[in-house]
Amino acid sequence: MDYLKIFAPATVANVSCGFDSLGFAVDAIGDEMTFTKTTEKGVKITNITGADLTYNVDENAASAVVKKVLNDANAEFGIELTIHKGFSPGSGLGSSAASAAGAAFGANQLLGNIYSDLELTKFAMFGEEVACGTPIADNVSAAVYGGFVLVRSYHPLEIIKLPVPSELRVVAIHPQVEVKTKDAREVLPTQIALKNAVTQWANVGGLISGLYSNNYELISNSLVDIIVEPHRKKLIPHFDDVKNAAIKAGALGAGISGSGPTIFALCKGDEVAEKVYKNIEESYKNTGIEFTMFISKVNHEGMKIIKSL
Ligand code: HSE
Repeated sequence: MDYLKIFAPATVANVSCGFDSLGFAVDAIGDEMTFTKTTEKGVKITNITGADLTYNVDENAASAVVKKVLNDANAEFGIELTIHKGFSPGSGLGSSAASAAGAAFGANQLLGNIYSDLELTKFAMFGEEVACGTPIADNVSAAVYGGFVLVRSYHPLEIIKLPVPSELRVVAIHPQVEVKTKDAREVLPTQIALKNAVTQWANVGGLISGLYSNNYELISNSLVDIIVEPHRKKLIPHFDDVKNAAIKAGALGAGISGSGPTIFALCKGDEVAEKVYKNIEESYKNTGIEFTMFISKVNHEGMKIIKSL
């Protein structure tokens, strides 16, 4: 293979109760990236569209990951890379994660598929570190594995792929305000009360059990975050109004996507998802803040190959 075009999905991390340990991939939006083998060694970004990102190979999450993958494998070739961002950096939908995971996947394909998904996740975490200073695994593992994932352990890294009930839909609203992941992490407490920890880990268990048993009521009851959301929601204008609008229209639950500002709602079925979409839209349209929205299925397969030559 000398050429590859791929789709790298956007992802929703945390999923309310699972800060830094749960995530899922969405179908509706993501990045498109191309990888062209070159006889000359090294990595070069030849085009970036859809966002204003650096072409500096060591500072761009995607090219930094491609470089690391090729070096690690002692590759005898180089790669020219193009990146089309299908959604904005800083949205809370795993923008740098999509690019980093896509980069690891694409480079691995040109190498003849020598790395496992776990290894690709580790490479992609390096990209997250380049982009935002912390090698968080929830977004990148969801992008690599697809579906729902649990980061069961960071040291050593262990990723569990979870089942996805077939009628699960996600509705998301991205208010056009900037929330930097770094800032959204700085507002978090360094210590939490034991009784709050008990509530939170019981909800993580409930959510995972609900995914395994197709129990939408259990999923709904478990989509609660009493640790992170109370601090972060202050950074997202009208968060409570959106959440209430989503629940009122029948959503299973709603919360902050990753570090925000995107707010996601999980729903059972297309009909409810449409109603939730309309109610959220209605709740936001007079705020004076611009926004974009989407409805999506959960993406099951992670990376998708669009074309290969
Ligand atoms: N789990 C991370 C956070 C996702 O919430 O800060 C953003 O990278």
